[in-house]
Amino acid sequence: MTTHELEQLLMQQPVSLLHRLARGRISRHFRSGKRKLVDLLLQASAENRPGLESDLAALIEEQSPRHQARPVEPPPKPKAPTRPATSPVSARPHRADDHGHHEPPVSLREWLSGIGIPQAQPFVPDAWQVDALARLADTDVVVSVPTGSGKTYVAIEATKRAMQENRTVIYTSPLKALSNTKFTEFSRLFGPGQVGILTGDRREHAQAPLLIMTTEILRNLLYDAAGGEIDVRLDTLGLVIMDESQYLADPERGVVWEETLIFCPSQARLLLLSASIGNPQDIADWLTAIRPNPCALIRHTKRSVPLRAGYLHPNEKLTPLFRTAGIPYGQPHLLHPEAKRLFAEYVEETGASRSR
Ligand SMILES: Nc1ncnc2c1ncn2[C@@H]1O[C@H](COP(=O)(O)OP(=O)(O)OP(=O)(O)O)[C@@H](O)[C@H]1O
Ligand SMILES: [Mg+2]
Repeated sequence: MTTHELEQLLMQQPVSLLHRLARGRISRHFRSGKRKLVDLLLQASAENRPGLESDLAALIEEQSPRHQARPVEPPPKPKAPTRPATSPVSARPHRADDHGHHEPPVSLREWLSGIGIPQAQPFVPDAWQVDALARLADTDVVVSVPTGSGKTYVAIEATKRAMQENRTVIYTSPLKALSNTKFTEFSRLFGPGQVGILTGDRREHAQAPLLIMTTEILRNLLYDAAGGEIDVRLDTLGLVIMDESQYLADPERGVVWEETLIFCPSQARLLLLSASIGNPQDIADWLTAIRPNPCALIRHTKRSVPLRAGYLHPNEKLTPLFRTAGIPYGQPHLLHPEAKRLFAEYVEETGASRSR
């Protein structure tokens, strides 16, 4: 898509959609009119064009009549309902709910559809993965994409590249358990002698070219280096991968991430991975400000694996929690009528509201 085409497409969208697209990309976007908002979005797209285009496509898709009025399975032939309270979701009459929505709620069958083992296909990296790796050649990179998108692929490919250049790679995670899992996974991939682990509980192959450690351990190594006790691994350090980097915002442990980033040697590339940073652009801007190289942001919000929210009543009845199959983006309040009914039934049966 050319910039002109993108501009035309943005101008055709309602302002509410543009504001949703601007979230996390443009600060105080609610103060802008439509024209200004489109200009700001085009400016922001210079940072991460594929991410903006994919988010825009997802929002347009979400607003399309096809998406809103999902086809529902034909209602079963009317039978004399013995217990209307447990009648199938799809058999319930469609009425406007409290929010004035007339579209039919998703049925349980639709909500469960597609779950299973997908057919094996050749691996083709997504555009954002290719983009992240290309950017990493010249800059630090913050990757902010939904869970299950394939952040590990970027980490592995970047590690391979750095190891080919005889550079040390440090992979940090916030949890010992995750460090152990990654140690096993990466040892299988790169060969056991190539991977080391340093946590509070384990110390193995401490001179390996790829070191897995908790962020606290890396912070302490950097402290020692700052105090003059240069660790040989830091001399050759080429890449620092910080998985689950949203811990930067943790009220107690966040300072460890902050200090690690501040003390990280300038010759090493930084790769921050997260599915849940609310303000990734701010983080990228901050890193650009404190480090010699700029920091690129790779961001999109389209889920490769949609999340489904369901409600399991103590009577074992399962129902979608929301009116749609996936978790509705920006509209978490649109509860499924059957879930609402089950909540009400539960409150009535247990007196839950009285006990509050
Ligand atoms: N381009 C791709 N096409 C298809 N599948 C992919 C692609 N990239 C990664 N995957 C697969 O997606 C799954 C999830 O990947 P991964 O564990 O890297 O996700 P993640 O982004 O790290 O998620 P989390 O936020 O939960 O840590 C893996 O099975 C991986 O093999
Ligand atoms: Mg991951």
